[in-house]
Amino acid sequence: MKLAIGNDHAAVAMKNGIVEHLKARGIEVINVGTDTNDSFDYAISGYKVAKLVASGEVDGGVLICGTGVGISLAANKVKGIRACVCSEPYTARLSKMHNNSNIIAFGARVVGQGEAEMIVDAWLDAEFEGGRHAKRTNMISEIEETGSLAAAED
Ligand code: RB5
Repeated sequence: MKLAIGNDHAAVAMKNGIVEHLKARGIEVINVGTDTNDSFDYAISGYKVAKLVASGEVDGGVLICGTGVGISLAANKVKGIRACVCSEPYTARLSKMHNNSNIIAFGARVVGQGEAEMIVDAWLDAEFEGGRHAKRTNMISEIEETGSLAAAED
């Protein structure tokens, strides 16, 4: 498995810890985030990871900024991306099982390193269930592709 990881200045230390955690799981990691504490615009890392995921060059992505919000918002502007911000493992697991998330995001100012590793593990160990959930994720794709949703029309 190969994952891309990205971050801003708020999350350098946590990113490094997550990279080590992923490598210990035998996962290849492409780091496109900043490695210094100088101010860095999260949209750049969110976009880079999203493009790698959307193109299929990697199997998924991990994004970390102060809250996980800005960097996931940027990633979600790339077609085909379902980036979910999670602050605990349950939501991370369900984001894969029900929402087929292809990027997991969290905040370095929100969760500690141990919680972050549990979030990543819960997400990696889960699988998309398909079925009724695929019908719903297909609706999200329809909105993305057409700007409308047939099921919402009267
Ligand atoms: C940077 O100060 C902070 O705004 C950023 O890391 C993130 O939390 C934005 O959503």
